[in-house]
Formats: sequence, structure tokens, C-alpha cells
Amino acid sequence: MKVAVGSDHAGFALKEEMKGFVQSLGHEITDFGAFSGEQSTDYPDWCKKVTDSIISGKSDRGLLACGTGIGMSIAANKVPGIYAALCASEYAARMSRLHNDANVLVLGGRTTGTDLAKAIAAVWFATETEGGRHLVRRQKVMDYETETKNIERGLRGSGRVVVMSHPLIQHKISIVRDKDTTVKDFRDLVQEIAGLMAYEIFRNLPLEEVEVQTPICTTKGLSIAGKKLAVVPVLRAGLGMVEGILRLVPNAKVGHIGLYRDPDSLRPIDYYCKLPNDIGERDIFILDPMLATGGSASAAIAHVKRAGGRRVSLVSLIAAPEGVSRVSADHPEVDIFTAALDSNLNDHGYIVPGLGDAGDRLFGTK
Ligand code: RB5
Repeated sequence: MKVAVGSDHAGFALKEEMKGFVQSLGHEITDFGAFSGEQSTDYPDWCKKVTDSIISGKSDRGLLACGTGIGMSIAANKVPGIYAALCASEYAARMSRLHNDANVLVLGGRTTGTDLAKAIAAVWFATETEGGRHLVRRQKVMDYETETKNIERGLRGSGRVVVMSHPLIQHKISIVRDKDTTVKDFRDLVQEIAGLMAYEIFRNLPLEEVEVQTPICTTKGLSIAGKKLAVVPVLRAGLGMVEGILRLVPNAKVGHIGLYRDPDSLRPIDYYCKLPNDIGERDIFILDPMLATGGSASAAIAHVKRAGGRRVSLVSLIAAPEGVSRVSADHPEVDIFTAALDSNLNDHGYIVPGLGDAGDRLFGTK
């Protein structure tokens, strides 16, 4: 495997010793410095070169050393996709691969002797990850990265504002924004985006171990642990998102809420509402593609809460800061998932740049 190595001055001597040793284990080394132990340098600078090489796919693993190994591991673990393990024993090295699937080994040049460091590295490079329940835990760690990356512009109450940056979602959002996208393509893409968003949103669904009989033997697998879900589209545009989500979670129940804006008071009035009877036991996802002023979304959330809903999230394709602020103020506990956080509302209440009226574009009524 391709191994990127790096150290500061305090880890230099150990790095030099380790290079030949790791090569003798059959790996290819790229040394990103430091190139001397004489001059005092800053460990984050060398760390970044190694982690960049891993993140860009040029290296498979990394080996870092500083005086204690602490600075290097703190710095490395700030980089999304890097899982650095500071190891001072063969046991920790083995577990960091088996349970944590660490991709960077960190050693302390002033704390760990050369012979022990080599024994640690030998175990670390030879051990494969175990998977199973550890995969679920690793996924939860990876979720921190997604959430941290996606919370934008400080718009954050106690509920989360998550902008889903997955490239496929972003690509499709650009197409639905295009005014020349046909009604059919628009409709298909809205379902696809809703499905991709659901795939990201549901990455924390609880799993349980199950026994599976393969044609060869009995093994342990993972199965979703019976979470009860409900999707509640706000009529009419929310309907455009339902099928895309149900394709992934076909057992979710579907409620409906119809709202119109009273022309005098401009307040949203609900004219239709049918929710699953056991709404209080379900995780509820209200679907409203355009979160503009937030008036209808907030009213829909309030309605679901009055009906007994306790765990409510809002899923929109495009949100305006005004809508996010309104929903966060009215329902601070609600998570808001959106594929794009746009600039502002114009004088007619349309999101800028937005995509126009989602209902009209879904149903070809304009
Ligand atoms: C350098 O003196 C030392 O602080 C550094 O190598 C490292 O141990 C930091 O965590």
C-alpha cells in the first residue's frame, strides 16, 4: 500500500527509522518532511501534507510523528476523512485497525522507543478492520463530519439546519433551477432529489444484529430496528417529493396537510389534514419543497404537533434564510434539511435565485 509519512523536528528521528521498516513490510513510502530534526517547525504544516495526500487518494494510509504524537493526532483528526490513532502499544495499534479502521498511525518520537514503534507499526499495517457493529459506530463518527460541514451561516437553533452537500443532490438541484427544464424532467428530478436527501437523512436509523442464512453458512447481518416513520407533504408541491422517499422507506406512513393563504390576513389556513393515527410514535418528516417565508411550513409543523407529533423534521429542496429563521424561531427543536440555502426573498415572496413556483413546475399549471 502507498503510505504517506511526515513529522516535525521532534518526530524526525523516529520517522527516519520507520521509513525503511515500513518499506520492509512491503509498502511504498512517500516522505512529506520534515527533512531535518535540527530546525524547530510546526507539526500542523507537515500533518497537512500527509492528510492531503490521503484525502486526494494519492496515498492509502499515513504515518505521522511529533514529540508526543498528540499534536499530530489532534491536527490530523480535524481533517474530514482522516481517522488518526495515536498508539503507544501493540494492543492499541491492533484495536485501532480492528475497531476504528484508523487510516493514520501516529507515534510519539520522544515517548515511544524505536523497537516498540516498529512492533506497533507491524501490527497496525497487518490488521484489517473487523466491520460489523464497529461499522455502525464508524458511520456515526463520519456523520459528525457531514453535520459540521453542512451547518452554514450560523443559522442554528437547538434543531439542526443541515444543507445537504452531496454532489448528486447539488447537480440535480442545478437542473431543477433551470427554467427550461421540462415538467416531466422537473417532476422526476424532484423525486430523485427527495430520495437522495432521505438516503442522507436516514443514515442514523438504528440497526440491530440479525442472523442470516446464506447458501454457504449462517452469519450475522444488520437490519433496521423497526423505526416508525411518517412523511407529511404540504399540499400541493410537497406531493412531488413523496414517491422518491417511499422508494427507500416503503413502510413509512403518509399524512397530508393542505394549507392556503388567507388573502386578507395573509395567514396560512389549513383546509385539509389527515395524519396517521399513531403520529405520536413516529419520526415525522414534513415535506415542503420551497421554504420561503416559512409561514406555511411553520403552520404545518404546528398542526402536526397539535395532533400529537413529537419528533418533527422539515425537508425542503430550497430554503431562504427568512424561512429558516422563521421556522427555527417558531419551532427551535425542529431539524431543517435542505438541499440549498439561497440568498433572500424578492418582493413577491419568491426565493432568489430559487426555481420559481415548485407546484406550478411540478404540475405544469403555468
Ligand atoms: C514540539 O516541541 C512538540 O510540541 C511537538 O512535537 C508535539 O509533541 C506536539 O504535540
